[in-house]
Amino acid sequence: MPTLLAIESSCDETAASVCRDGVILSNIITSQLEHEKYGGVIPELASRLHQQQIVRVVEAALAKANVSKKDLDAIAFTQGPGLLGALLVGVSFAKGYAMGLNIPLITVDHMQAHILANFLSATPPAFPFLCLTVSGGHTQLVLVKNYTEMEIMGQTRDDAAGEAFDKAAKIMGLPYPGGPLIDKYAKEGNPLFHRFPSSDIEGFDFSFSGIKTSLLYYLQKETQADAEFLTKHLADVCASYQQQIVKTLLDKMKSAAIATSVKHLAIAGGVSANSELRRRFSEMCAKYKWQAHIPDFQYCTDNAGMIAIAGYHKFLQGEFADFYVTPFPKGEK
Ligand code: KG4
Ligand code: ZN
Repeated sequence: MPTLLAIESSCDETAASVCRDGVILSNIITSQLEHEKYGGVIPELASRLHQQQIVRVVEAALAKANVSKKDLDAIAFTQGPGLLGALLVGVSFAKGYAMGLNIPLITVDHMQAHILANFLSATPPAFPFLCLTVSGGHTQLVLVKNYTEMEIMGQTRDDAAGEAFDKAAKIMGLPYPGGPLIDKYAKEGNPLFHRFPSSDIEGFDFSFSGIKTSLLYYLQKETQADAEFLTKHLADVCASYQQQIVKTLLDKMKSAAIATSVKHLAIAGGVSANSELRRRFSEMCAKYKWQAHIPDFQYCTDNAGMIAIAGYHKFLQGEFADFYVTPFPKGEK
């Protein structure tokens, strides 16, 4: 019955979780709202805020789980990808804590952890399965063979899906992060109001920089004709933009699922919280008789529960790190 403490500090969420035997006992997340006024994450500010918050967040995770630090068997932490300074806070904290308690360290890949968040639901996927991982920094189609062996079949060549949402929100004057707001406004809008272009990339790769630019030009043109255009049609523009991103993601995923003959499909990462993506993904899976897996909302955006479950499976395999371990900002192994 191993008990693990997990730490996530790759971007602008300081998070800690305690899990026992693969069951999450606590999942504490502090989001750094201070970045909002800059319209994006400021790396140096992020690391300073992690430093201020990490002790409190870890203590809250232990208290919520009703676990004493003496009961811990290992500490798992995000090694990358992420912001170097932000990762360093988690890595250094984990090293110090593990050294003080004389327990092992476990490194976790943030992208693999997003995928493994699907194992925190009541009906986890069966291997091999295909996962569409969509976050603020990544867009990947991954063939998941087991808890640690994963093959990236395709990924974005430029902007990530989350970035396409966030940059569009910025163009429309909405605060960061824009994804959840576009999702919210889109609910009241007409997805057929405007047809945004789809990117035509061969194979399983994606491209999202074109759609963001086309939004910019479209709004420039329309507001020249009517200065109130966006105020009148914000919901319609959000719905049309969102539906094109979701369609692009799911069209590629469908081709990859057919090519690999998998029976289980999953989504993961911050953008998997998007209501239209969740709805259309479920519809697609029902149509093709694929088993659909969607993480609970609390495990979609950055959290430490996903680091805990990924760390737990490395613990079972005896995969520990030494105390010289360093962050991998780009996620390279
Ligand atoms: O996985 P995540 O929390 O952090 C990274 O690892 O990047 O993903 C954050 C991204 C942001 O781009 C945010 O706008 C997007 O996820 N996001 C959403 C929604 N909730 C979060 N995008 C669209 N709809 C949402 N409901
Ligand atoms: Zn993430």
